[in-house]
Amino acid sequence: MKAIVITEPGEPAVLQMQERPIPACGPGEVLIQVKAAGLNRPDVAQRRGLYPPPPGASIDIPGLEVSGIIQECGAYVNRWKQGDRVCALLTGGGYAEYAVVPAGQCLPIPENLSFEQAASLPETTFTVWHNVFQRAGLRSGETLLVHGGSSGIGITAIQIAAALGSKVVVTVGTEEKGLQCMELGATGYVNYKELDFEAALLEEGVDVILDMIGGSYFEKNLNILRPDGRLVYINSMQGNLVKLNIAKLMQKRITISGSTLRGRDTEFKSALASKVEQQVWPLIADGRFKPVIYRTFPLAEAAQAHELLESSSHTGKIVLVNT
Ligand SMILES: NC(=O)c1ccc[n+]([C@@H]2O[C@H](COP(=O)([O-])OP(=O)(O)OC[C@H]3O[C@@H](n4cnc5c(N)ncnc54)[C@H](OP(=O)(O)O)[C@@H]3O)[C@@H](O)[C@H]2O)c1
Repeated sequence: MKAIVITEPGEPAVLQMQERPIPACGPGEVLIQVKAAGLNRPDVAQRRGLYPPPPGASIDIPGLEVSGIIQECGAYVNRWKQGDRVCALLTGGGYAEYAVVPAGQCLPIPENLSFEQAASLPETTFTVWHNVFQRAGLRSGETLLVHGGSSGIGITAIQIAAALGSKVVVTVGTEEKGLQCMELGATGYVNYKELDFEAALLEEGVDVILDMIGGSYFEKNLNILRPDGRLVYINSMQGNLVKLNIAKLMQKRITISGSTLRGRDTEFKSALASKVEQQVWPLIADGRFKPVIYRTFPLAEAAQAHELLESSSHTGKIVLVNT
């Protein structure tokens, strides 16, 4: 099969197409003929050599989510059969013509979606559901702040939280991105290049913050959280090390949490898949959550797709397509 391989750590040009054997499908797994693969920011970190794949994942083929058609089912797989259209969360190996994945990490492609749209869903819906709803416990009527509102994660968090009755505000790097987030259901945005988000949101406050920035945002986040607020981290692009004023934590009874999805075991991911299917798939079926595809590229152009992702000029998801 053809696959995009990280030939060495570095810039997008290190992504090159090579011939690889089709992966073997073991017990409890399915082999998917990949139609489309979603790009995610962690793929960039992996390409740069900063995010090693967990044990058992493809060492040099990136790709955390795909959609496609099941070609083969391993022993003990009951739910799926050859020919089923699925999307799936992977630990790697998605930038290829075939991928193997534990059966529990697959979900049916919603009827109204294309392969390209379906490939954009697993990584973001799983991450958002776990962090915003399971860890931070966002409730209807509360206000959620999403940093990086235009990211794949951001457009997912906005739509799910708004559909479930929360008010959502976002930070973005341009006015255009802010307006696009409003169209998706955000009630407000702060262009952080023009305005300080702490000053803009201090008076009203927020209940839950989904942060991927870290660094200098930490203290500002604590300041704008309302009493009993929750701050949840999914990355720290601006730095890991911060100073905590414990008194502030106690006075406002703030909960700080965070998680990474990729290294979690199959049992966890399968349970999360069931939750996402119960809670998020109905929002897709009734049109309250729509995938936002910024651009697709043929698999062979993965390097160009990474260049676009790193330019941060997109809103939504970038997807590779097997033609
Ligand atoms: N913990 C987990 O399990 C998990 C899972 C998936 C993703 N993530 C993380 O979630 C974040 C979003 O992922 P994604 O794939 O949705 O990202 P994405 O589509 O590539 O978007 C990232 C956006 O973040 C904004 N940004 C702000 N500060 C930035 C900085 N210093 N460097 C780069 N971008 C910056 C940019 O928008 P503006 O131009 O508006 O600033 C950019 O478009 C990433 O940090 C990723 O690592 C975590």
